Amino acid sequence: MHFQDILYTQGFGTRRVCAGLIQQGHVSIAGAAVTDPFADLDPKGLLFTVQGTEWAYHEKAYLMLHKPAGTECSQKPSTYPSIYTLLPSPLRLRPNKGAVQGVQAIGRLDQDTTGLLLLTDDGQFIHKMGSPKHHVPKVYEVTAKHPVDAAQIDKLMAGVVLDDDPKPVRAAACESDSPLHLRLTLTEGKYHQVKRMLAAVGNRVEGLHRSRIGELALPGDLAAGQWRWLTAEQVAALRAPAKPQKPPK
Ligand code: URA
Repeated sequence: MHFQDILYTQGFGTRRVCAGLIQQGHVSIAGAAVTDPFADLDPKGLLFTVQGTEWAYHEKAYLMLHKPAGTECSQKPSTYPSIYTLLPSPLRLRPNKGAVQGVQAIGRLDQDTTGLLLLTDDGQFIHKMGSPKHHVPKVYEVTAKHPVDAAQIDKLMAGVVLDDDPKPVRAAACESDSPLHLRLTLTEGKYHQVKRMLAAVGNRVEGLHRSRIGELALPGDLAAGQWRWLTAEQVAALRAPAKPQKPPK
C-alpha cells in the first residue's frame, strides 16, 4: 500500500495532507524519515512516527476506554465534555467509505457512570455487540444509597418490571459483599437499566462503574480517562458467543 494511503486510512488527514506530511519529513519509520508518499509498504504491523507521535497501523480500530465521571458518550454533548475528546485526533478522524467518521462507542454509559467502554470503527462489530442474540454479560459495580438486603437481590434475580416494557428484566447474576455494594451482571442494555432496576426494588444508585464486558475486565492499570488498543485475542473473545452465566468473582 502507498505510504500516503496508509496514513490516510489511520486518520491523519486527506491523502493530500498525508502526502505533505510525508514529503516534509514529518513521518519516520524506525527512526528514519520516509519522504516518498508512494513508497510501497506492507501496512500489517507497521509502526511509524508522525510529528513525534508513534502510531501502529490497525486495519480496523478496536479500543477500550476507562470512562471518567462527568463525560458524555455523545459526539455532540449537551452538558459535559464528550468522551471523544479523550482520544487522539486520528482515532476521531479515521475515514470510512470516503467520509470522516472515526471510532464510535459501542453502547453508552450515563455521564456519571465510570468504567469500561468499547469503541470501534467496525460497523459489523457494533451491530454484533448490540444484537439481542449476542448476549454479552456486562458487570456493574453499584454503590447503593441504602443497604442491600436479600429480598432486593431475590427480586433483581427474579425480574423487575420497568416503566417502558411489561416484560420483566432480570439480572444474570447479583451479589453483595458489603451492605452498600452490589455486583450486578446484565445481558441487556436498556436505557438507565441499572438505575431503574435498583429503583424498582426500592433502592437507589449512588455510584455506578462497569468493570467487565464478557471476558474483558477493565485493566487495573488503565486510569480513568485513558484508552488502549484491544488485542486481536480480546476482539476474538468478544465476538465469540457468550458463555453460560456463572456469578463473576
Ligand atoms: N445502567 C445505568 O443505569 N446507567 C449506565 O450508565 C449503565 C447501565
